[in-house]
Amino acid sequence: MQFQTLENQTINELCNLFNAAFADYLVKIEMTPESLQDKFDSENVSLEHSVGIFSDGKPVGFIFHALRDSASGKMAYNAGTGVIPKFRGKNATVRMYEYILPKLAKYGVKEVVLEVIDKNPPAIKSYKKVGFTILHELECFKGFPDISSPDKPLIVEESADKFTPPDHFWDWQPTWQNTTQTVLRSGQYKTWSILRGNRAIAYLTGNPGSGRIAQFAVDPDQRWKGLGTSLFCHFAGLSSNTPMVINIADQAGQTQDFLKAIGMTPFLRQYKMNLKLQ
Ligand SMILES: CC(C)(COP(=O)(O)OP(=O)(O)OC[C@H]1O[C@@H](n2cnc3c(N)ncnc32)[C@H](O)[C@@H]1OP(=O)(O)O)[C@@H](O)C(=O)NCCC(=O)NCCS
Repeated sequence: MQFQTLENQTINELCNLFNAAFADYLVKIEMTPESLQDKFDSENVSLEHSVGIFSDGKPVGFIFHALRDSASGKMAYNAGTGVIPKFRGKNATVRMYEYILPKLAKYGVKEVVLEVIDKNPPAIKSYKKVGFTILHELECFKGFPDISSPDKPLIVEESADKFTPPDHFWDWQPTWQNTTQTVLRSGQYKTWSILRGNRAIAYLTGNPGSGRIAQFAVDPDQRWKGLGTSLFCHFAGLSSNTPMVINIADQAGQTQDFLKAIGMTPFLRQYKMNLKLQ
C-alpha cells in the first residue's frame, strides 16, 4: 500500500472512489463528478492536502481536507473519509492520517475538525486512535413543517450573495458545510428574509433544489412571533425535496425545540470532533 496526496487524480476517479467507499454507508449518498466538484469548490477542499491510499497504483481509500483561515489560525476540515470494503480492517484511516498530519502541521494547520455519525464505530475508533476527541453532539432534522404559518409576513427572496447574515442573530455557530463561506462559494443557495423597514429581522438560507437549509435565524428581539415558522413554511413550499437541517449543536436547545415544534423530525446524530496540531 502506498500513500499520496490527491492533486493528480481526476474528478471522475475521485467520484468513483467516493461512491465505492460510501456504497454501504448508513445514509444513502451518491455523488456525480459535478456534485463532487461543487462540494470541493464550496467547502474549499484542497487535493494537495488530501490523501489517498493506493494498491497497484489505484486509489482504494481517501481523506479529503478542506482548508480555511480562522481567527485562531489555519483550520482543516475532514470533508470525507472512505475506504473501499475490500481494503478495510487494516487501519487504513489511521495510516492515512499518519501520512498527512505532518504535512498539514508543516503547512501551518493548527486544528483539524470533523463530524461523524454516532452509529459509525469503525470511523469513531479510527479518529480516536489518531487523537481526535469529541467536542459536542449535533442533531440533524428533516421533514415538512406540519403547522401553518400564523400570519403571512412579506418574505423577500434574494440570491445568497446579496445577503449578509447578521451574526448577532446567531445562538450557535454553523458547521463548515453551513458557513456563509460555503454558501457563497456554492452558488446554489438563496436567502429569504422578513424585513422591518429595510432591516432584516429574520432570514433563512437554503437550497430549494436539494431541500438543504444552511442557516436560519431570527433577531433575538423578534422571537416568539412566528417569523421562523413563516420562513420554514415558505421554504417548504418552494423546495423540490424534503427540507433538511443538519448539525444543530445540542447546546442550541432552543433551536432544536423550535424544529421539533414545527414538526421536523430528528433523524441522525453526529459527534463534532477535533484534533489540535500545534
Ligand atoms: C470508516 C472507514 C473509513 C474505516 O475504514 P478502515 O480505516 O479500514 O477501518 P478499520 O476497518 O481498519 O477499522 C478501524 C477500527 O474500527 C474497528 N471496527 C471495524 N468495524 C467495527 C464495528 N462494526 N464495530 C466496532 N468496531 C469496528 C476495527 O476493529 C478497528 O479497530 P481496532 O484497530 O481497535 O481493531 C470505513 O469503514 C468506510 O469507508 N466506511 C464507509 C464510509 C464512512 O463511514 N466514512 C466515515 C464518515 S465520517
